[in-house]
Amino acid sequence: MKKFRTADEQEVGRNIERIFTACPDSVEIKLENFTKYVRRQHLKRFLALYEIFKLILPVKGSIVECGVFRGFGLMGWAKLSTMLEPEDLTRRIYGFDSFAGFPSASERAMRPFSASSPESWIFLETRTALTPCSSENRLPKNGRSLRAIT
Ligand SMILES: C[S@@+](CC[C@H](N)C(=O)[O-])C[C@H]1O[C@@H](n2cnc3c(N)ncnc32)[C@H](O)[C@@H]1O
Repeated sequence: MKKFRTADEQEVGRNIERIFTACPDSVEIKLENFTKYVRRQHLKRFLALYEIFKLILPVKGSIVECGVFRGFGLMGWAKLSTMLEPEDLTRRIYGFDSFAGFPSASERAMRPFSASSPESWIFLETRTALTPCSSENRLPKNGRSLRAIT
């Protein structure tokens, strides 16, 4: 697979990992102080989600992320929603990822579309990787949490 990071960028990543690992604080304390370790571009990416979220605050509806990968965006939307609109219990956040691409258009066209069929609502890794994460992140105020659709 093509690497998009230069050798220097990869070295920065390794250095951050060394600093993170060498610090004697617990992981929880390290995460509380995440600005010490997180790279500027990842912080910037979260701020970009924040700016986008502010624009949709007055808009009713759900958020759908197509291609969640490890969940940065998905959990970002979920946390922004609970922080910025804690009283809104109607906003739903859906994440999709096939991790293997989808069947080709012609292959799909041969089968009738069903919104309830498992292949239409794919949460493969999200279910295994993010569900434990989301239950840790359940917010006490309104009890909203991510639920995987299977
Ligand atoms: C760049 S990553 C997404 C990063 C993620 N949004 C985040 O916030 O970190 C792209 C993801 O899209 C998924 N993907 C690519 N093509 C897809 C397709 N045709 N259907 C479903 N998922 C797809 C890949 O499996 C991959 O996990």
